[in-house]
Amino acid sequence: MTQTLFRQLERINQRPKIFCRYTAADLWTDPHTSKQMLAFHLNSEVDLSSRKLEFIERSVEWLAARFGIGSGTAIADFGCGPGLYAQRLANRGACVTGIDFSVHSLNYAREQAHKYGTEIEYVETDYLEFSSTKRFDLILLIMCDFCALSPEQRQRLLWVFRTHLQPGGAVVLDAHSLQSFEQREQVASYAFNQLDGFWSAKAYYGFVNTFKYEAEKVVLDKYTLVTEDETREVYNWLQYFDRNSLSQELERAGFTTEEILADVAGAQYRDDAPELAVVARVG
Ligand SMILES: C[S@@+](CC[C@H](N)C(=O)[O-])C[C@H]1O[C@@H](n2cnc3c(N)ncnc32)[C@H](O)[C@@H]1O
Repeated sequence: MTQTLFRQLERINQRPKIFCRYTAADLWTDPHTSKQMLAFHLNSEVDLSSRKLEFIERSVEWLAARFGIGSGTAIADFGCGPGLYAQRLANRGACVTGIDFSVHSLNYAREQAHKYGTEIEYVETDYLEFSSTKRFDLILLIMCDFCALSPEQRQRLLWVFRTHLQPGGAVVLDAHSLQSFEQREQVASYAFNQLDGFWSAKAYYGFVNTFKYEAEKVVLDKYTLVTEDETREVYNWLQYFDRNSLSQELERAGFTTEEILADVAGAQYRDDAPELAVVARVG
């Protein structure tokens, strides 16, 4: 009994091989956690799941001005969640496609589109597998989703973007900066019903182990969730970037960096900003 517990604790605390597992679907589509995620998205006062409402409105304002968004602009919002950006862009006349694998968030997004009398196509799929005959003037990936992917997945997603852009179209995405990487620490902790029951409706012990991969500038927050009858593991990978590493990745996929900013609301780039955002085009 004691040895079994020892082995389990060893597994919990063992440093995994970098990008060894991709569990995003478990986090975003599990019926219990996706409900919690939607509540975070819709809480206009917190920067969890989506940014605060004030930021989203500023961001849409900036996007509209920067890309001349108006009637007929074709936009794809990858990882659109409950459509907080998609809806606002559609309200300005854009033809918006939102892509996400969270049914719960998409149901909310569809209800909103109906309420506002807007036609938005919401596609339920893993965005790495997205395929459409539509071509877009603007492709968005907002709230650092790019960072959750392995280098191979990022190249795959950039290829999906390339395939679906109109000639001259642009991609806008944001990422965590190296400044933020420096502030992360390796920690291990556990709590009963960790994060106020976020992970399960059943009683559980939640362990979080944060591992830093210094050379690769990657952090893993690994959650191990132990209920009476099962153990689940959720791996949240985060790749941190600087201007060069982000531009180089885009270049590798055939993009040219047009502008680097501090966020997707148009703030000027700063070395000490926690995030950076990029505008890129093919060629
Ligand atoms: C951090 S949230 C950001 C939502 C939205 N962009 C915003 O800022 O309000 C990430 C979203 O991407 C979705 N997502 C993550 N990985 C995905 C994948 N591989 N395929 C489709 N959707 C994904 C999640 O379901 C979630 O809605």
